[in-house]
Amino acid sequence: MTTFAHVVGWGKYVPQRVLTNDELSRMVDTSDEWIHTRTGIRERRLVEDGETTASMSIQAARQALEIARLSPARLDLIIVATATPDHAFPATACLVQDALGATRAAAFDLAAGCSGFVYGLSIAAHLLIAGAYQTALVIGAETLSRITDWTDRGTCVLFGDGAGAVILQAGENEGGVLASVLGADGSGGDLLRLPAGGSKTPASHRSVAEGQHFIEMKGREVFRFAVRTMPAATREVLAKAGLSLTDLDLLVPHQANRRIIESAVRSLDLPPEAVYSNLEQYGNTSAASIPIALCEAAADGRIEPGDLVVTVGFGAGLTWGAAAIRWTRPLPKPLPRWRRFLRRLRYVVARLRSRLRRLRRRLVAFWTRDVLGNGREKSK
Ligand code: ACO
Repeated sequence: MTTFAHVVGWGKYVPQRVLTNDELSRMVDTSDEWIHTRTGIRERRLVEDGETTASMSIQAARQALEIARLSPARLDLIIVATATPDHAFPATACLVQDALGATRAAAFDLAAGCSGFVYGLSIAAHLLIAGAYQTALVIGAETLSRITDWTDRGTCVLFGDGAGAVILQAGENEGGVLASVLGADGSGGDLLRLPAGGSKTPASHRSVAEGQHFIEMKGREVFRFAVRTMPAATREVLAKAGLSLTDLDLLVPHQANRRIIESAVRSLDLPPEAVYSNLEQYGNTSAASIPIALCEAAADGRIEPGDLVVTVGFGAGLTWGAAAIRWTRPLPKPLPRWRRFLRRLRYVVARLRSRLRRLRRRLVAFWTRDVLGNGREKSK
């Protein structure tokens, strides 16, 4: 029997704080007119103190679980696609797993730049279709504001923070992720990078003084790569699914630059209403941009059951990816208050469980200290 990987839940989180182009023009030598004409962006959201990639991911995941009407304990797998994890390790996905109380889930982070969400979706779908797992949570989340040089007008006008999440579930009905294509060209790695903070150039006084912990980008080359890649990947994924552009209901592209999206639309000869964009409000949120756009398109009624949706992304690496999805799930009615309360309670229990586990670990360490001490002595 054939198994399909259906999208059964979706959620997003964007921080409250809005940074407008006018505010930016008081920080660097730019203007609302320049930014909007060259990129299509009017404003972006930025995290406040205390907010992180994990905290945003958790909010987006909770919303996705609510729409899917699933308990976190049903999750088998959590993937967080991000270029801005809370730490190099532990994986942000593990922090999400703990906070949700997804006790049965395997969890890992995935680094594929702005294509990360499509990579995650493709991997999760293949695992479900292969029968390895039943339910997977795929998150794209970024805190780009913390790796942005707010004195560099060439990059700081582009980026924003946020998180989006999708839940995939295995099912026998036809639909869900029908096909995906992923690609990489590491020869273009230098076009978009974070020079320091990895094992090649660990954080040092010098790397910080030289601003090597900020995004470095060759915008024009990335632009050229994007306008070539997006239409090609869209065509390829449709062909792989045995479909064509005339079957497409909505294209949800990576929200990097309006001119890139318009160029892809022209090249694919699509009507403007066949493309979703929310770039104006959020800027480029990297791996988060496609899942945030998917959520908003579904909430706006732009995606309905039966629709064929293609998501297509490109980004650092260089990487690209596209997925063709047959949407099968209607937007459910909001949960009654008491059920929402029960769901919140579940997360309180998850927090409590996490604390108890830490306490147990400490107690075990305390009671076994002699044993370990003896072991050390023996091995001397
Ligand atoms: N305000 C005013 N002027 C500016 C600004 C600004 N914010 N930024 C650059 N300029 C100036 C430049 O200095 C230059 O001036 P000059 O002609 O006197 O030298 C002029 O504007 C043109 O600069 P370009 O860089 O050539 O401008 P371009 O039209 O290429 O637009 C942009 C720049 C918006 C960055 C564009 O190249 C782009 O969007 N590239 C793709 C970037 C992208 O998508 N990156 C994300 C990839 S995904 C990921 O993984 C994060």
